[in-house]
Amino acid sequence: MLGSLLVLFLALTAYASQTPPELFSSLIPQKVLNTSRTLPSPIKYPQYTTTGNGTWLLFAPDTWTSGFFPSTPYALDSRVKLCPDQATKQSVLASTDWINLGRSLSTGLIPLETKNTQGHDVGFLSMPFMLELLVNPQNETAIHAINAFAADLAARFNPTVGCTRSWDTADPTDFTVIIDNMMNLEVLFSSFALTRNTTLRSIALTHARTTITNHIRADGSTWHGFSDSSTWSRGQAWGIYGFANVYRHVKGTEEEDEVLLDTARRLAEFFLDHIPKDGIVPWDFNAPVESSGTLKGVVPSDSSAATVAANGLLLLAQVEDNDDMKQRWTNGAIDILANITSLAWRPRWQSLLSNGTVNRPQNNFATGIVYGDYYYIAAGNMLAEMGLVEC
Ligand SMILES: *[C@@H]1O[C@H](CO)[C@@H](O)[C@H](O)[C@H]1NC(C)=O
Ligand SMILES: *[C@@H]1O[C@H](CO)[C@@H](O)[C@H](O)[C@H]1NC(C)=O
Ligand SMILES: *[C@@H]1O[C@H](CO)[C@@H](O)[C@H](O)[C@H]1NC(C)=O
Ligand SMILES: *[C@@H]1O[C@H](CO)[C@@H](O)[C@H](O)[C@H]1NC(C)=O
Ligand SMILES: *[C@@H]1O[C@H](CO)[C@@H](O)[C@H](O)[C@H]1NC(C)=O
Ligand SMILES: *[C@@H]1O[C@H](CO)[C@@H](O)[C@H](O)[C@H]1NC(C)=O
Repeated sequence: MLGSLLVLFLALTAYASQTPPELFSSLIPQKVLNTSRTLPSPIKYPQYTTTGNGTWLLFAPDTWTSGFFPSTPYALDSRVKLCPDQATKQSVLASTDWINLGRSLSTGLIPLETKNTQGHDVGFLSMPFMLELLVNPQNETAIHAINAFAADLAARFNPTVGCTRSWDTADPTDFTVIIDNMMNLEVLFSSFALTRNTTLRSIALTHARTTITNHIRADGSTWHGFSDSSTWSRGQAWGIYGFANVYRHVKGTEEEDEVLLDTARRLAEFFLDHIPKDGIVPWDFNAPVESSGTLKGVVPSDSSAATVAANGLLLLAQVEDNDDMKQRWTNGAIDILANITSLAWRPRWQSLLSNGTVNRPQNNFATGIVYGDYYYIAAGNMLAEMGLVEC
């Protein structure tokens, strides 16, 4: 008993010494609350910032990223519960009604249930409603939203292809599927949990299995990015999270399938093995250094790829029964977070982090990004939930 307590203590202190304190900074709740106060009515949502001064640019609700800002107060509500000591020290964290703020920010998403142009990204749009059910499982508005968005995504499934379609295309025979779809399967599992409609779960599993055969190279990298032979880091990160998440849903059920776990591991291994020596996640693992502009001589980072990967690795660590693997994914996540914090933490920006790459080919990079920030907070919460950090 004493032995295992000592081991736990050593493990806690070892992790605590590497975990960046910014993950639990009092600036986080302050920035989120301040941003929420700047939003117009009718509401528009932050997606990414200007490059020079980190000012949020706002977008109409019918945009794929609209669910992230409304999800952020729910993450801060979890933080209050996970980190009671922190809450007593941080007045804004403690005194804000985060659930109420999350609910009021979410209302702009409700009209999208009946009409939106977001294709597969309805999964992301449904996130705040899934978080609402964690605090109020009976909330009919949230239940309705999840079931509507899930039906919308299910209607994008083609049984011949074995996938949900990402976007509609001018040529209907051109069936586009990107790795990001793996993230959006969550809404199908969530609706399955509410309705027990097994069609939804089997669509998610078929999509995942088709992705394994068609979207992943032999070395565990994924197609999508700078070139046909390169690997886009955020796509790889969505994949780690997506497969770990699908495995989480089937683990211990009649659908349990080790291939899903093995795929998450292969993607994670590739990601960790391809981070350069400086520890900074580039926007594409094969991207060239910039030949001009303010980042001349640098391979631009994507801080959102780093924070999504950290969440994926921690989720994978949670579903692992193998202790060595658990340790590897956890250490990898903490290293990524520590390095991206030292590069990209920006106290004076509206966003938490800079150095995000929204879309390098479209020259949209060196920004803060709303999902990068959301997953930064979520990563801190996961570390706290796993007992790996004291907050
Ligand atoms: C948030 O807004 C308050 C009031 O305007 C201001 O004092 C504070 O510095 C802001 N905090 C951050 C982190 O921007
Ligand atoms: C931030 O920069 C943008 C141009 O990129 C400018 O329009 C805006 O006024 C600046 N905001 C502040 C607060 O300096
Ligand atoms: C249910 O969730 C919706 C959408 O987030 C919110 O507007 C509403 O206040 C919630 N209602 C209750 C009773 O919790
Ligand atoms: C289950 O979900 C599928 C896909 O949305 C739908 O077509 C079907 O009608 C649902 N079944 C029931 C019994 O509601
Ligand atoms: C950054 O990454 C390097 C290389 O992966 C690692 O050795 C180092 O510990 C990381 N830095 C921090 C602050 O965690
Ligand atoms: C990160 O952003 C800063 C400017 O905010 C820039 O100077 C630096 O080169 C960027 N680094 C990477 C790796 O993107």
